[in-house]
Amino acid sequence: MKKVLFVNGCIRGAQSRTLRLAQRLVRQIPDAEIDVLALPALHLTPYDAKDINERDALSAAGAFSLPFFALANQFKNADAVVIACPFWDLSVPSMVRNYLERLCVTGLTFHYGSDSYPVGDCPMQRFVYVTTRGGVVDNSDPVLADHGTAYLQSICKLLTSARFDVLAAEGLDIQGNDPEAILRQAEAEADALALRFWD
Ligand SMILES: Cc1cc2nc3c(=O)[nH]c(=O)nc-3n(C[C@H](O)[C@H](O)[C@H](O)COP(=O)(O)O)c2cc1C
Repeated sequence: MKKVLFVNGCIRGAQSRTLRLAQRLVRQIPDAEIDVLALPALHLTPYDAKDINERDALSAAGAFSLPFFALANQFKNADAVVIACPFWDLSVPSMVRNYLERLCVTGLTFHYGSDSYPVGDCPMQRFVYVTTRGGVVDNSDPVLADHGTAYLQSICKLLTSARFDVLAAEGLDIQGNDPEAILRQAEAEADALALRFWD
C-alpha cells in the first residue's frame, strides 16, 4: 500500500466544489492508504518571530523528530500528496500558505547543494494540486493570472522530484455557464488521472 496524504484546504467544507472534485480523485487512487489532513481544523497561524526562532534553534540542534516538525515529517513520509483548495485572490487561500510555511524546513524537507541550489529531500512520486475557480485564468493578463499553480509547482520542485499535476475546474461562477457540466468534465479528468496515478 502506498501512503497518500490528502491535504484538505477546502474552507467551505461540504459546500465546496473543490472538495467534491478532490474526493472523486482520492477515492479512486489504487493501492492507497489515505491520510486526511483537514487544514481548517488546524487553525494554523502565520509564522511569527517566536516560531522562526524556535524553528531555527531546533533545526540547528537537528531535533527534526519533535512535534514542531510534525507536518513536515508527515509530508516527507508520503508517497503522494493531493492538496485541494479553492482558487482565492489569484492564488491559494492563506490557510494553505500557512501550511506550506511549515513544510519548507532546511535540513529536513530540502537542503542546499554545494552550488547553493536547493535540493528536495521528500521522496514522493506524485504531487497533485486540485482546485476550482470562479473565473477563467489567463497568464498573459496579470489580473487573471494563476499564481496558485505556479506557486505549488515551485514548492513541489523545491521539496521533491515528484511529478506535478493540476486538476482544475474553472469558470464555475461565470453567469451563463453550467457549473454542474464543468464539474462533471473535471471529474472525468479525475477518473483518468486516478487510473494512471502511479504510472
Ligand atoms: C475569498 C474568495 C476569493 C476568490 N478569488 C477568486 C479569484 O481570484 N479568481 C477566480 O476566478 N475566482 C475566485 N473566487 C471564486 C472561487 O474560486 C470559486 O467560487 C471556487 O469554485 C470556490 O471553491 P469551493 O466551492 O471549493 O469553495 C474567489 C472566491 C472567494 C470566496
